[in-house]
Amino acid sequence: MVAATVRLRPGATIGATDKRLFGAFIEHLGRCVYGGIYEPGHPTADERGFRRDVLALVKELAPTIMRYPGGNFLSGYDWEDGVGPQENRPRRLDLAWMSTETNQFGTNEFIDWCRLANIEPMLAVNLGTRDGDAARRYLEYCNHPGGTALSDLRRDHGWPLPHEVKFWCLGNEMDGPWQMQAKTADEYGRIAVETAKMMKWIDPTIELAACGSSGRNMPTYGQWEETVLEHSFDHVEYISLHTYINNYAADVPAFLAAPDLMDGFIEEVTAIADAVAARRRSPKRIMLSFDEWNVWYRTRRKPEDRTKPGWPIAPPILEEAYTMADALAFGGMCISLLNHADRVKVACLAQLVNVIAPIMTETGGAAWRQTIFYPFAQFSHFGRGTVLRAEVDCPSYEASYYDPRGTQELHFPVSAPFLKLAAVRDEASGGVTIFTLNRHLTEPLQLKVDLTGLGLKSVRAARQLCDRDLGAANTAEDPERIRPGLLAGATVSAHVLKATLQPASWNMIRLGTTV
Ligand code: AHR
Repeated sequence: MVAATVRLRPGATIGATDKRLFGAFIEHLGRCVYGGIYEPGHPTADERGFRRDVLALVKELAPTIMRYPGGNFLSGYDWEDGVGPQENRPRRLDLAWMSTETNQFGTNEFIDWCRLANIEPMLAVNLGTRDGDAARRYLEYCNHPGGTALSDLRRDHGWPLPHEVKFWCLGNEMDGPWQMQAKTADEYGRIAVETAKMMKWIDPTIELAACGSSGRNMPTYGQWEETVLEHSFDHVEYISLHTYINNYAADVPAFLAAPDLMDGFIEEVTAIADAVAARRRSPKRIMLSFDEWNVWYRTRRKPEDRTKPGWPIAPPILEEAYTMADALAFGGMCISLLNHADRVKVACLAQLVNVIAPIMTETGGAAWRQTIFYPFAQFSHFGRGTVLRAEVDCPSYEASYYDPRGTQELHFPVSAPFLKLAAVRDEASGGVTIFTLNRHLTEPLQLKVDLTGLGLKSVRAARQLCDRDLGAANTAEDPERIRPGLLAGATVSAHVLKATLQPASWNMIRLGTTV
């Protein structure tokens, strides 16, 4: 048995979670849109073609903001193709995913879907093959009330009211050689500034995110952030981060330690942003938009996937079947985001449906929850509030996390406590939700949390996600193979929470202020 003690104090806080921390992502990629959220002709589709079965699961998952339309797709996207009468919309080759894009779903359908789902839309402008001019036109089409050619075009298309999209991404992963018209940091920094200026002249209420590195393993990581922010500091509110953790090495302990590297990534980018601020003697703080994060490795595309594309429509690509082990690593990432709520104000689980997603569907058939659905839903429902700074005392293990880059073998050493934990206080009720991961694969973890001063008196609910088979997954045939169960035996007495966490388990314990 591993023992861990944790101390929480009422005044020791990290910060309040922003509502946008619980976002997700819809890209024109594989079956995320077509056969995912949108499938006219599906038995559950409404009159606009939105799948009601998927929508019901999205509401249960509870993402708060949705990024669209990409992703790598964005860097070749002409937004004009996706608006106006559907019968007039062009089919295009999508060079990001070697597919044919039919454009039957576009910006206005996306906005309608977000309104239906009660989710804030987040749009991204193409700074790969397009530039600031296309971006300013896109914003005018979306957000200007009327009386100009572009805003009246939106009205003619059937959307008389402005979409009022507040959060915009300036391109996507512009450092990545796989990107259409990738850029150097200086090239991107310049175009980002000029685009930002025009966009804010049109609508000063918007917030903008500049592209950070596409990953911590990129060769230009660090230098990229610094250069881009040197250009754009005065014009943007956010810098983006992307991370996909993997278990290529079939090393589960290292895989479960990887979220601790995400902690380091967040702290490094924060430091770089603050160094740029310091050079300007500026009190402004650039916030972090972690607008792509997830587990992803089994269905990564290889360079040879580009050679014989065949240009299919909505091919079933990147359809990662998530296992119990993936849900644990994913839960660790949720904890990392919560514990940086002071600087990570926006985050998007990539993606929402079918493509590296918490929700899977069969085209024409059923929809179900993947293993990672559960930690995310708990994180979103109960992660709203003030994150408490937890003092954790727990033995650690040493791991070496493998994160390849192209042909290079990169290994990152990491020392990970067996317990990973975040605690969030709901300011209205005073209740606290504790999210925990026991990373020991064979030993239970005896958890004691000192709650002195927090006025917590009872366990309101306790759930665990665990299974002896770390390879188990949910499928169309067995959609509930993995689901949360009750965590028995958690108690609060004399200001101490005691619980025994199963080996390799994700747990959520909700504490209340009444007996
Ligand atoms: O989410 C899948 C892809 O991962 C996105 O299109 C891209 O931005 C990232 O490389």
